[in-house]
Amino acid sequence: MKIVVTGGLGFIGSHTVVELQNKGYEVIVIDNLSNATEDVLQGITAITGTTPLFEKLDLREKAVVQDFFKRHQDIKGVIHFAASKAVGESVGNPLLYYENNINSLVYLLQELEKKEDAHFIFSSSCTVYGQAKVMPIDENTAVQTALSPYGNTKQIGEEIISDVAKTSGINAILLRYFNPVGAHPTAEIGELPLGVPQNLVPFITQTAVGLRSELLVYGDDYPTTDGTCIRDYIHVVDLAKAHVVALERLLDKKNNEKVETFNLGTGVGSSVLEVIHAFEKVSGKKLNYSIVDRRAGDITSAFANTDKANEVLGWKTQLTLEQAMESAWKWEQKVRGITI
Ligand code: WQD
Repeated sequence: MKIVVTGGLGFIGSHTVVELQNKGYEVIVIDNLSNATEDVLQGITAITGTTPLFEKLDLREKAVVQDFFKRHQDIKGVIHFAASKAVGESVGNPLLYYENNINSLVYLLQELEKKEDAHFIFSSSCTVYGQAKVMPIDENTAVQTALSPYGNTKQIGEEIISDVAKTSGINAILLRYFNPVGAHPTAEIGELPLGVPQNLVPFITQTAVGLRSELLVYGDDYPTTDGTCIRDYIHVVDLAKAHVVALERLLDKKNNEKVETFNLGTGVGSSVLEVIHAFEKVSGKKLNYSIVDRRAGDITSAFANTDKANEVLGWKTQLTLEQAMESAWKWEQKVRGITI
């Protein structure tokens, strides 16, 4: 059964390709290599023994998308990761985000709506909730006005999918991720941020490996246990498995509605300092960090209510924050050529 994974050489995409192959699916990866390299294909092959079909395509080109679906008529499902995802960059370059994240989605859906029944998994984000008033955050929590063009493209994407599903054979599941972290335990694939990492965990591992001189902790004056922000850090392998469970829910026609939404998190909030301490514990390294001013746009706290994912989707996280730190550290050392 052929499944297309757009952005399949990216961080979450590559881990999802591995889990799809582990379940026996034939995977076609589409990626424009704007934020990934073809080497990731070797990593996937090293884990599963199977190299997925790969097509270097840019989904912003409508004719390219049309041609792809003309050449692959027997596609059963699409898991759509391909998007620009840097919050800060989106503020400075909104049209890059609207063109890439929205146009690509529209062209994909235009091909899927031609099919009798199509199954679509959309990579969304807890960022749609902004600073939710109540913790933990469940799927009925109000979506708030996006704080960035990136977040807005996720909200608009969800609305487009809902509208198209009403008038087509498309069945969709929107997956709202909390904070994906860690790497595959084999250290064959992992997060490869280009340039200076924006996210916490790659900055921690790059500091520990000596690439960065120190980690800056953005504020310790928040109304939380230790003053630093709270997030729900979910192991990327758990997150990848959730995509296969969601896809099979649609393939097996178990979905209750044409479009369903699930929060994907551990249900546990961890502070920045707790993440640092977890990393220090598993790595045995003392991390060099200093507390500085808050980062503009950061929310105080966000962690998931996992009841719906556990009870309806039938999925829950298995891996811990420490296991995520351990895999992230093993991956960082591997990438820097340090024998582990
Ligand atoms: C986590 C915490 C920072 C870096 C972002 C996107 C979100 C999603 C996940 C795509 C915050 C603190 C960070 C550093 C720090 N991406 N931090 N020093 O901002 O929760 O979410 O990534 O969907 O859409 O917004 O993740 O890892 O950037 O920050 O102190 O060098 O770590 O202040 O409290 P965030 P993050």
